[in-house]
Amino acid sequence: MEVLVFENKESGSLYAAQVIANKVLMNNSVNEETVLGLATGSTPTDMYKALIEINKSGVSFSRIITYNLDEYYPMKKSSPHSYHYYMYDHFFQHVDIHEENIFIPNGENKNEDLSKFCEEYELSIRRNGGIDIQVLGLGLNGHIGFNEPGFSMDSLTQKVTLSDTTRTAAVKYFGKKEEVPFQAISMGISTILSADHIMMMAWGNEKAEIVKESIEGQLSKDVPGTYLQTHKNVTIILDAESASKLDNDRISLIESKLS
Ligand code: F6R
Repeated sequence: MEVLVFENKESGSLYAAQVIANKVLMNNSVNEETVLGLATGSTPTDMYKALIEINKSGVSFSRIITYNLDEYYPMKKSSPHSYHYYMYDHFFQHVDIHEENIFIPNGENKNEDLSKFCEEYELSIRRNGGIDIQVLGLGLNGHIGFNEPGFSMDSLTQKVTLSDTTRTAAVKYFGKKEEVPFQAISMGISTILSADHIMMMAWGNEKAEIVKESIEGQLSKDVPGTYLQTHKNVTIILDAESASKLDNDRISLIESKLS
């Protein structure tokens, strides 16, 4: 695991965006697609801002294919609370990605169609050659995607039940806890772990404890973030606060000269 600590979330986000841009540039130069796994929430917003600037500066995203980690269920795409809405608002509508290359779990599915949809989501990722770079945030309880504590490492894309911690954390977006859905559709842990490269970002003091547990703790289903320890190519991108509880011998300090 490569653990990089940046001065602040802006410089960490810029670094993450540059890693993506380098991959896209390389693939564009040989006319190949770049397949990205994308996250929502507060963590990646500055990365999306940086990617929009990179796109404006001439790096084309016309060959990127994206798979989002999750969506609330049930959820209308048009709702401002949906991850569909978030992705268009923060990223897709500002760049030259092709609509047909955007894949987000569909919270409008009928319950009886969900398992077929999830199977097709997995197949679609595989048909496109698998995910090159998977972007992740980390839940306060260690969830990745919406794979909550207790989920096994071999889980695939499926309907999941959100934990109370996750629903409470979402109140800041929904206003009232009663409004927060109880369920979601989430890419599985095994799907996430089959990406070539995983970049997990976390910012701020509130994530310091769970970052430490995920990176330094025993592999455990109680903290899905620890599953990342089993992957051969993971970059953890932190700011000084989220890294503050880590054992210092294990981290590379990056002097931020990027911003
Ligand atoms: C979002 C997702 C979640 C978040 C996590 C952290 O698509 O899959 O795992 O990354 O809940 O959320 P924030 O970034 O809001 O702290």
